[in-house]
Amino acid sequence: MTDRIPGFATLAIHAGAQPDPTTGARATPIYQTTSFVFEDVDHAASLFGLQTFGNIYTRIGNPTNAVLEERVAALEGGTAGLAVASGHAAQVVVMHCLMQPGDELVAAKKLYGGSINQFNHAFKNFGWHVVWAEPDDIGTFERAVSPKTKAIFIESIANPGGVITDIEAIGKIAKDAGVPLIVDNTLATPYLCKPIDYGADIVVQSREKIRAQRRGLLLHVRTQRRLRRRRQARLQRQAVLPSR
Ligand SMILES: Cc1ncc(COP(=O)(O)O)c(C=O)c1O
Repeated sequence: MTDRIPGFATLAIHAGAQPDPTTGARATPIYQTTSFVFEDVDHAASLFGLQTFGNIYTRIGNPTNAVLEERVAALEGGTAGLAVASGHAAQVVVMHCLMQPGDELVAAKKLYGGSINQFNHAFKNFGWHVVWAEPDDIGTFERAVSPKTKAIFIESIANPGGVITDIEAIGKIAKDAGVPLIVDNTLATPYLCKPIDYGADIVVQSREKIRAQRRGLLLHVRTQRRLRRRRQARLQRQAVLPSR
């Protein structure tokens, strides 16, 4: 049997999910549990010691969320995803991993208004400073980078202006500066644009927009590009893709 590379539509429906091995149920159940049972104390010790992969506690990981996280990571071509409560929560979580008080973030001036407020006001309270750059003038990003810069943040298609940002050029500036490029891919969606293919290191999305098409779903995912590399390496090993 030949291994086929799943297309976007297949990934959108199936990535990250499997039929339930006990019941055969096709749809992913909602696991309404905070805790998980361990086989014995050794199993618990290896889970907590991060020697075995598995579920420990829902705040750390939940099998229902895991399907969404893996699916979005697969669609974006990332390594892994993390679902949190909203787009702005995703932005805080990402920055928390990268920034210390006194650090700087270079951000495109053309962003969703709520993000501009979050960066100017909420982030200021953490001692994180934003330096604004003009997405129509790439040189402003280069000039905005300083030794205190810890990340560059842009939107692939800015909301609401529809400005298309040159991800590749800004990705190169981030790479030269040794900092991650974070791309908010909310408006474009990975169907139109996969920022990781153009040099983004982290992608954030507000899932309440085009993807959910209903108000209740507020899930945000950040992904990294290693999954794509791993998937490619696996497919190359299986001789599905020519090696480069
Ligand atoms: C491009 C973009 N990014 C981030 C957000 C923030 O997402 P949320 O409202 O889910 O926090 C929005 C919300 O409209 C948005 O349009």
